[in-house]
Amino acid sequence: MEKIVIEGGRRLEGALPISGAKNAALPLMCAGLLTKGGLTLHNLPHLADIKTLASLLTELGSKISYDEEGWDIGSGQTVTIAAQNITSTTAPYDIVRKMRASILVLGPLLAREGEAIVSLPGGCAIGNRPIDLHLKAFEDIGATIELKDGYVRASGKLTGGTVHFATVSVGATENILMAACLADGSTIIENAAKEPEITDLANCLVAMGAKISGIGTSRLEVTGVSELHTTEYSVMPDRIEAGSYAVAAAMTGGELELLGNDLPFVMTGTLEILKQAGLVFNETDRGLLIRLGSEKIKGINAVTQPFPGFPTDMQAQLMAMMTMCDGASVITETIFENRFMHVPELCRMGADITVNGSSATIRGIGKLLGAQVMATDLRASMSLVLAGLAADGVTDVNRIYHLDRGYERLVQKLGSCGAKISREQADSI
Ligand code: EPZ
Repeated sequence: MEKIVIEGGRRLEGALPISGAKNAALPLMCAGLLTKGGLTLHNLPHLADIKTLASLLTELGSKISYDEEGWDIGSGQTVTIAAQNITSTTAPYDIVRKMRASILVLGPLLAREGEAIVSLPGGCAIGNRPIDLHLKAFEDIGATIELKDGYVRASGKLTGGTVHFATVSVGATENILMAACLADGSTIIENAAKEPEITDLANCLVAMGAKISGIGTSRLEVTGVSELHTTEYSVMPDRIEAGSYAVAAAMTGGELELLGNDLPFVMTGTLEILKQAGLVFNETDRGLLIRLGSEKIKGINAVTQPFPGFPTDMQAQLMAMMTMCDGASVITETIFENRFMHVPELCRMGADITVNGSSATIRGIGKLLGAQVMATDLRASMSLVLAGLAADGVTDVNRIYHLDRGYERLVQKLGSCGAKISREQADSI
């Protein structure tokens, strides 16, 4: 078991390359199942979740090849998913339980093979995360759904149809979008999620020959085609990683140039709140220059919303920043039912946070104090790293396997901008 050790209080300055987006890369890799011709993806981040999904795709019969040439701190890896033959349509429990995004193989397998047997993902730290919206959508376009022994079996010929999501769901939108591309008919998806990762997926599917209109809106129209062909596609930058490092710049009183294209758009929602907190941004020809433009971080009221609102995946990181705000802030989490597990750990560093249902009130304090803390989920672990960067003294962040799921080369990236940070063996806790 490893931990991250941070000696806080150092200003971060320099340029930080933003990696390919985990939450775009995962559905894009699943899209590789939709064609026999092979799908080559560039700028894929080196993350645990990418490896886990690659092993699942291999179990299903794909051949996965990597091209590491030229990979340095600033560029991702190139991966080709060659799904010439699908040899299994089952996504087993031991993989799905580790990574919920595995359910995104459901749509492509169902569309390609007429059957998909996928373990129900079960809950995770931030909520029970059902997949009812996915399953209803598949039934709406012709599939038969059976639940047995903790698995869902989807089968049948996809005829297309109208899907209306009662709740906005990123994964359900992605799953049905991929399946609809090969349906024998047209599909309308209403109240679709509009996250930039879905636009990235849709653009790649179109490059593979899919017929999709309304991309970027909450109403997608898909005309099924008989097959999709090969293409190469480059993954968009990770807007949550970018937002996390923008917070790091503000909390340490430093200035970072985040390197990536189209950051102002993909960071919509995040930038709006960070501006209210006093951060200033200047676009450069390489990305976005970010620093705190006021004496102190200003208190804000933030409510997590689907895109283009303030993203739930930035909630924990914003809370870390608000522990140092001038006055008080209120953050309300509307997407997941249990996404405040970073609160007790931040309080152990001296933060003054009170949770009342889905809202947290944060009263700004002078200085956070370094401490031994424990990561509980991916974004909570980042909020503890951010707190450690700003705190007086040394912070040990334990259980950093959570962090390795979503932040590529975090220690190298922060170290290159002046942080005193290292990975060390931890006593097993
Ligand atoms: C995606 O998860 C992201 N993961 C999450 O990022 C992100 O927090 C979430 O979207 C919201 O933006 C990936 O893209 C791999 P949802 P997803 O379906 O698709 C409920 C991270 O930190 N719901 O939009 O699972 C659900 O419980 C991760 O990178 C149902 O009730 O999220 C939640 O309350 C964490 N039934 C809400 O909808 C369903 O069938 C939104 O979930 C599906 C979802």
